[in-house]
Amino acid sequence: MTPDTYRVDESHQMWIGGLRVRDLVAKYGTPLYLLDYATIIARIQHYQQALSTLNPPGQAFYAGKAFLSEAMAGLLEEQQMGLDVVSGGELYTALRAGFSPAHIMFHGNVKTRSEIAYALKARVGYLVCDSFEELDRIESEAARLGVTAPVLLRITPGIEAHTHEFIRTGQFDSKFGFGLAEGIADRAITQALEHRHVQLLGFHAHIGSQILDEAPFIHNAQTLLDLSRQWYQSRGWWPEVLNIGGGFGIRYQPQDRPPQLDAVVQQISHLIAKGTPSTMNPPRVFMEPGRSIIAEAGVTVYQVLVKKQVPGGKWYVAVDGGMGDNIRPALYQAEYQAAIDSKADWLPTQRVTVAGRYCETGDVLMREINLPPVAINDTLVVFATGAYNYSMASNYNRVPRPPVVLVDQGQDHLWIARESYEDLVHADRPWTPVAWEPR
Ligand code: LLP
Repeated sequence: MTPDTYRVDESHQMWIGGLRVRDLVAKYGTPLYLLDYATIIARIQHYQQALSTLNPPGQAFYAGKAFLSEAMAGLLEEQQMGLDVVSGGELYTALRAGFSPAHIMFHGNVKTRSEIAYALKARVGYLVCDSFEELDRIESEAARLGVTAPVLLRITPGIEAHTHEFIRTGQFDSKFGFGLAEGIADRAITQALEHRHVQLLGFHAHIGSQILDEAPFIHNAQTLLDLSRQWYQSRGWWPEVLNIGGGFGIRYQPQDRPPQLDAVVQQISHLIAKGTPSTMNPPRVFMEPGRSIIAEAGVTVYQVLVKKQVPGGKWYVAVDGGMGDNIRPALYQAEYQAAIDSKADWLPTQRVTVAGRYCETGDVLMREINLPPVAINDTLVVFATGAYNYSMASNYNRVPRPPVVLVDQGQDHLWIARESYEDLVHADRPWTPVAWEPR
């Protein structure tokens, strides 16, 4: 839940990455996103180590949608991680940072023709194809550019993982991928194999996000393996790659128990060893972790500016950020844990609702949480905000987005600057009088 380097000293002050949160607030102001380097690296290395036990070795592609910036892409490249991008914008960010295109997986259920061309020209390692229209578009763009497109087909395996309805993707009634039922996936495979500029490398399936059980991941791998075996038996075609997506859950609450990565990889290893025809090579297994790499590395730091007791006695505490920097409570009823700097290890004595600053009743970060006595100007730290917070942030109410600062061993590195009012109007053009003609 907290970053690996988080600690509270004798005077109850919080430290992350060898720096006092209080000093970081003095330097950068609030709201402020902090990312702990040690936590990110430990999570990346865990995936790499676990996947290296497979034969052939697997590969992890970090899901950029969880959080991406040029510096993050640089860190991933340095760690030799793959990267999953879902838009021309994410691809641009990665390429600008010097990220190797061969280690990029281009995703998305709607890719425009120009995004497909951009990915092909950049020579990304893989395109994950999501629909029949897209398969034709990839074929025609690849033919136009005189290249062969390395493609995985996104399969909808019919797995209903236990997670919030809005972040489930594996069930048949989904906008993503080709359903296994009714021969839809089979038709897509046939079509991909017929396309002359498409090289079908294998399958992909992502079943959802923030999944806390192990079984759905194993089930997913088994489903892709079963489909592969059917194709091998009927047509002699066998995949090089099986990509089982992301979705490993993290600890938002102390009682959350994330799935055991090593156990999942070990079971998949058995399945593959058992399921690969004796005449074929075992497919490479890919995973696409987003949240489980970056969520717990991140915290958001706010200043308490308002305290209000409403009729009925309930206490509201309002901070200088909210749904603009963390939309997840409003969108998914996501729940977070928080602490107050300088009181981090005090006993909770108050039940408060932490509201944001945006003009929206639903802009509540945490409902009825227990905190020590909260005072105006206190620094409130919300944990596990590294994933899908900055990346889903908005400028609602024309509030500038907070900066992102990486911390490590007593050093702070500005990764994304705080937006200025100038930045907010950057794309605006001034009003010009409209000639009015009476009608
Ligand atoms: N691969 C694919 C194809 C995906 O669609 C996703 C997430 C991932 C990998 C990474 O999943 P992760 O390991 O982060 O769970 N905004 C939502 C989450 C949406 C996830 C969308 N796809 C949230 O804030 O919970």
